[in-house]
Amino acid sequence: MRLLVLGGTRFVGRAVVDEALAAGHSVTLFNRGRTAPSLYPDVETVIGDRTVSLAPLAGRQFDTVIDCAGYEPAVVSLSVSALRDSVDRYVFVSSVSVYADQSIPAAEGAAVLDDDSYGGRKAACEQVVLSVFGPRAVIARPGLIVGPHDPTERFPYWPRRLARGGRVLAPGAPDDPMQFIDVRDLARFLMSRSPSGVFNVVTTPMPFGELLSAMDPSADLVWVSTPDLLAAKVDPWMGVPLWIGDPEWAAANLVDNSRAVAAGLTTRPPAETAADVLAWDVARGGPAEEPFTAEQELALIGGPSVSVG
Ligand SMILES: NC(=O)c1ccc[n+]([C@@H]2O[C@H](COP(=O)([O-])OP(=O)(O)OC[C@H]3O[C@@H](n4cnc5c(N)ncnc54)[C@H](OP(=O)(O)O)[C@@H]3O)[C@@H](O)[C@H]2O)c1
Repeated sequence: MRLLVLGGTRFVGRAVVDEALAAGHSVTLFNRGRTAPSLYPDVETVIGDRTVSLAPLAGRQFDTVIDCAGYEPAVVSLSVSALRDSVDRYVFVSSVSVYADQSIPAAEGAAVLDDDSYGGRKAACEQVVLSVFGPRAVIARPGLIVGPHDPTERFPYWPRRLARGGRVLAPGAPDDPMQFIDVRDLARFLMSRSPSGVFNVVTTPMPFGELLSAMDPSADLVWVSTPDLLAAKVDPWMGVPLWIGDPEWAAANLVDNSRAVAAGLTTRPPAETAADVLAWDVARGGPAEEPFTAEQELALIGGPSVSVG
């Protein structure tokens, strides 16, 4: 496959490039050469700014383009117009954040946002791609993307914290749903010859307690309920990594993945993802800033005499 990757050097794009090279595809990157210019010295990189023009790609033909990091409809519009006759298939990385109602489980046909939020603009980008590429478009809506090189500090906290040992604050309840996608499984799906259309690219929901046990079966978990965390004024979104305390987001981890699974999505065991993330986290020397500190944790679980709900 002659593959064009818009982006390709941060997280999702990087996994796409790694998978594509491993599969023996011919890969061309299009980016500004800023984020990680020396990452792929042996891969052709066409330098350009997608917010300005894709003219440096003029005259080139590709089987597939994977648009890893499009956020603005006007910018995505430039890309689809420039590539409509030179690329067979346009794969756009969107997000489950497009769904308008995160309090009920979403399938692909659910209503999407129509506003200026991140999810609303991603939904508008999807429409731009579909309007030009139609049946030649794949819209992938990943949930929380995790794995090595994750630039957010959400998932990596957990394997790191569990490896440290001791009494570990576990937020919410063991049965709270958890859902994510390993960036490498996402990359494989983006490159597969899946049917065209829209796909939620996420794991099947699993209880958060099971996820933590998969990471460390002997972890000493101290569950602090959502009402207790909210009463303690913990931020319901990022206060404890991966905990969702806002009832309006109660179904954010219950997205229906059956369409993607039927189209070939496979996901690796969470223990494998966690082990790889931990290895990467150790190799990088940990995060620049701990998203949830030992002091914050201790303040919430207290000493042995404190009730934790
Ligand atoms: N993290 C999550 O949990 C999550 C969940 C759902 C969906 N998503 C989606 O996943 C994607 C994550 O993207 P990523 O950052 O990991 O992708 P990436 O392709 O690995 O990195 C972004 C790339 O875009 C290039 N770039 C930035 N501005 C550019 C410009 N003006 N012109 C040309 N190239 C430009 C960067 O290179 P240069 O700087 O060198 O140009 C870099 O190669 C996004 O689409 C996001 O909406 C994320």
